[in-house]
Amino acid sequence: MKKKILVTYCVPEIVFEPYKDEFDITVPDRLLTRDDVLACIGEYDGLFALGQRLDKEMLDAAKNLKAAANNGVGYDNFDVKEATKRGVAVINTPTAVTEATAEHAATLALAVMRGIVRYDKQVRAGGWERERYPDHNSQIYGSTVGIVGFGRIGKRVCKKLQGFGMEVMYYDPYRAAPEVEEEYGVRYVELDELIRTAEVITLHMPYTPENHHLINAETFDKMRKDAYLVNAARGAVVDEAALIEALREHKIKGAALDVFEHEPHPMPELFELDNVILTPHIASAVYKTRIGMAKEAMEGLTKALRGEKPYNLVNPEIWS
Ligand code: DGY
Repeated sequence: MKKKILVTYCVPEIVFEPYKDEFDITVPDRLLTRDDVLACIGEYDGLFALGQRLDKEMLDAAKNLKAAANNGVGYDNFDVKEATKRGVAVINTPTAVTEATAEHAATLALAVMRGIVRYDKQVRAGGWERERYPDHNSQIYGSTVGIVGFGRIGKRVCKKLQGFGMEVMYYDPYRAAPEVEEEYGVRYVELDELIRTAEVITLHMPYTPENHHLINAETFDKMRKDAYLVNAARGAVVDEAALIEALREHKIKGAALDVFEHEPHPMPELFELDNVILTPHIASAVYKTRIGMAKEAMEGLTKALRGEKPYNLVNPEIWS
């Protein structure tokens, strides 16, 4: 009998074509709700999730589940510990998201530094203030960016912003090898030094309980007054209320956010501020990237269901 896979969104058919003879794949015509998934997950061997939580309750209902893929590099919506206890393989998309996410973070940095959205709004509203000496924006060339999290995405952000003439420092709990630092032309600094000295701080780490509110009121007090914060990682890495306070009080110059503490509900106070740019968690939302992510997730999921170890297995300990 064919193994059954449940997909929780209307992902384009092209992703599933290579697997149709081997697997019985259910693709809905809309985003399934949590209740929809809970009601039928018991019948499936594999789950292809787009944002849904795979927690204890879901795993209890998923009696036959052997593998679950999350269509993203971040998998904080999955309780990996519970899945591992039950022998469920967890898959993610570590490579396909890299370029688009890095592009979006770099674009946010450039846009907020040059006041693009503020000027766009002004012109649309009939304004034409060609300010001669504006102090709400900054020159990109020659400024310093601090990358927090020097993994795949952080490294690509580094290259892109260096192309605009920015100096790059980074912090990562796992310092890169000297030859990697040399290859990228970057300087390693402790987090505190990065916070105090970078003009742009861009976040590229996963969300973990240790990273909760890593950037908080105390951090904003340490930051330069002309600093910008860019977050295309996970919302809860930043204390959103403290960020609002810092932007309001001009403790920092600006921010650009793709992620929020409580999605899909950014704190409404953000909407009133003109020194912040907001996008709705779309850093990877480019057709080519999204198809690539879905293919990467499907490849890992089907491999795990065949009993082959995928390279994008998040909990390799289940294999032993
Ligand atoms: C990711 O890949 O984790 C992105 O945030 C998309 O959800």
